[in-house]
Amino acid sequence: MPKKGRILSGHRPTGQLHLGHLEGTLRIWAELQDDYECFFEIADWHALTTAFDETEMLRENIEQVAIDWLAVGLDPQRSVLFVQSDVKEHAELHLLLSMVTPVTWLERCPTYKEQRDQIGEEKTAGYGFLGYPVLQAADIVIYKADTVPVGQDQLPHLELSREIARRFNNFYGDVFPEPQAMISEFSVVPGTDGRKMSKSYNNTLDLADTPEDIAEKVRKMFTDPAKVYRGDPGHPDECPVFVYHSMYNTERTEPIKAACESGDLGCVDCKAEATEKLLAALAPIMQRRGQLEADRDTVRDILTEGATQAREVAAQTMEEVRAAMKVSR
Ligand code: TRP
Repeated sequence: MPKKGRILSGHRPTGQLHLGHLEGTLRIWAELQDDYECFFEIADWHALTTAFDETEMLRENIEQVAIDWLAVGLDPQRSVLFVQSDVKEHAELHLLLSMVTPVTWLERCPTYKEQRDQIGEEKTAGYGFLGYPVLQAADIVIYKADTVPVGQDQLPHLELSREIARRFNNFYGDVFPEPQAMISEFSVVPGTDGRKMSKSYNNTLDLADTPEDIAEKVRKMFTDPAKVYRGDPGHPDECPVFVYHSMYNTERTEPIKAACESGDLGCVDCKAEATEKLLAALAPIMQRRGQLEADRDTVRDILTEGATQAREVAAQTMEEVRAAMKVSR
């Protein structure tokens, strides 16, 4: 079967992946494997741009992302799963692309300003952080990827990747396709406090949680504040637990809604049922996660093999880049 194109996407290894990642991006990536040639990268150098002073957990975080990816069905038989820093060619291309990237483009990037406001001057003052989008452009174009499935928040980086590729091609001839974003985040999963699930809000259900962890977190979840006693009528559309029913308990969504609204269903029972359905949906992932945790050698072997495959493609592109730029090979 001819493939529709080539995909590259990635994650920074900043900690455990959660239900928001699973429903927002990972399930879609797993499906794309059928139709596209896929490269999935664990972007450890990108993590260093702001977390350069806390590297003790970096190696472990990389393996945790790999375990999560494998557990949800990213498949090393069909896709290349690799760690960015294993493919040194990315660093060379980052350097060369930096020559044709005006600093003003980087300073204007909305994520640059947002992150400076959010995490402060100290962590974002580095030259490496300013160049974050150049490194991301290198990640993408070194595989000549045409399609990049990402969340909405990454659109400015994709825009810059295209501009950088275009500028390179203008100077040195057509080497790179211009990569297009594919918005892969179509469902926003609420966290336990009702806001968007995010590590920075500390409201996540993690893929690495035990069933007991999940049950406990759901038990303490925020619900419709107008429903205080069991008999009070609830407002399911304002309750994050109801969102979980609509995702994992589809055949019972309507009766749950009616029983909540009438006051017949109390939050304790509602949460118990949501937990049960959620855990049923997560069971295969949790089981696979457990196996992989116990077999780290296999995880490491997969990443080593992925790096070999990625390097082959990256090295080929770098030959073309050096020739086009007339720099020595
Ligand atoms: N910047 C992305 C993020 O924060 C991670 C990333 C690094 C990436 N390189 C990439 C995403 C290349 C898509 C393509 O999640």
